Amino acid sequence: MHEQLVLFGATGDLAAGQVVPALANLLRDRLLPANFRIHAVGKTRFESDAAFHQWLSERIARRAGDACDADALRELLARTTYTSVDLSQPETLAATLKVDPRGGVLSYLAVPPDLFVPIAQGLKLAGLLEEPSRLMLEKPIGSDLASARAINAAIATCVPEARVFRLDHYLGKATVQNLLALRFGNTLLEAVWSRRWIERVDLLVAETAGVDGREQYYSRYGALRDMVQNHMLQMLCLIAMEPPAAMDADTVRDQKLMVLRALRPFTTAMAPGESVRGVYQAGVVGAQPVGGFNQLEGQSVETFVALRAHIDNWRWAGVPFNLVHGKRLATRSTQIVVTFKPVSHWLFEKPNRQQAAPNRLLVRLQPEENIELQLMSSLAGPEWGAMELQSLPLNLSVAPTRRRRIAYERLFLDALNGRHALFVRDDEVEAAWKWIDSIADAWRGADCALQPYPAGSWGPQTAMPFLPSAISGVAHAKGSA
Ligand code: BG6
Repeated sequence: MHEQLVLFGATGDLAAGQVVPALANLLRDRLLPANFRIHAVGKTRFESDAAFHQWLSERIARRAGDACDADALRELLARTTYTSVDLSQPETLAATLKVDPRGGVLSYLAVPPDLFVPIAQGLKLAGLLEEPSRLMLEKPIGSDLASARAINAAIATCVPEARVFRLDHYLGKATVQNLLALRFGNTLLEAVWSRRWIERVDLLVAETAGVDGREQYYSRYGALRDMVQNHMLQMLCLIAMEPPAAMDADTVRDQKLMVLRALRPFTTAMAPGESVRGVYQAGVVGAQPVGGFNQLEGQSVETFVALRAHIDNWRWAGVPFNLVHGKRLATRSTQIVVTFKPVSHWLFEKPNRQQAAPNRLLVRLQPEENIELQLMSSLAGPEWGAMELQSLPLNLSVAPTRRRRIAYERLFLDALNGRHALFVRDDEVEAAWKWIDSIADAWRGADCALQPYPAGSWGPQTAMPFLPSAISGVAHAKGSA
């Protein structure tokens, strides 16, 4: 396990909100090596390491609150030094970093993607990418296929793919991993996991938070590039991929890649019917009035996206995968809903065939993690004729005996140990961008306008058919996807 972490972007939001708290938790649980140290790097200048520690502790207290153990944070900061440097100059970076490469280091780049290549070049000059050192890149990798390819190619000249870790924090979430256990650890589900039995699949990532404070980044990306290209497509891959023959990283990643390559590209003709893009206006979220999205001048990105994805292969032909993500929506909810086809012949009066709820597998990731299978069951009446069916949940949640881990805890442990399975390969990233580019091009070609929605709503009205039925209030009948 590597003992040194070089943390680029140490003064950024992610470091204070997720990364440092995750590392503090690992340290508290004694899961890090005894000599673990952090070389924090950023642009901002601090008078001393102590001044950086003080500044970061205050920021973490505001952002992560209870999620970060205070004693462990103090111990972690005692092992942390800070260096200020211009990250865009490889030579300066190499000359400034004082890190001993012996034993290997993990360099983690939580910085905008245009800094990936100069930083990697600086690390290479400093001897910090020699075997067994590793490089970990935060999403997004580029902003389209061309920029992602250029980054991947330039990174490959600095460090081989076998030592590159592209981080997508959704892959560190327990429930996302549980999808694999559910699908491949059981006989029952895989037997019905196809177009023959499944009507539609819904993936929803609804957030109440807005873009506040991140306008610079977000106005270049928008909802499609910020969430769909990475987190949502990774979830889709785990739902739709063929069973891998083994659980090693490349076998699993090969299967995910096949899904990405089978995604039907968007065209100008299909874009208006198969997608909605929206932007939030002033409204009320959780009883608090909030403003609309302050788009940077000259930009027009979406804060809401709804897409109907089609996977053109034998297993999924004809099954719509509805992907919906938005900022400033009514509640925070991340869920995957797999809706099964109606039974072939309905025998009951109560409810009648139209009112009968289909079987559903509901995988909730946020705000709480749990999995339930919704099945029809009888509420036995006093007599045969009074039998009434109702959809009831079979709950798979286990009582939490252990603290829920932040996704980054899992991912850092794996990267420090050199395990790749929860990281994204270069070809996966490129295949995902290829599909995303087809959507962005189709939107431009079809002139798909941004539809306003009030903050605190469920997005533009036209997006209702894309939402899971529990939210849109519609019983999704056969063919209504
Ligand atoms: C990040 C996006 O990758 O994921 C953010 O840049 C988004 O815009 C966040 O809010 C969502 O993560 P989570 O774990 O809170 O669902």
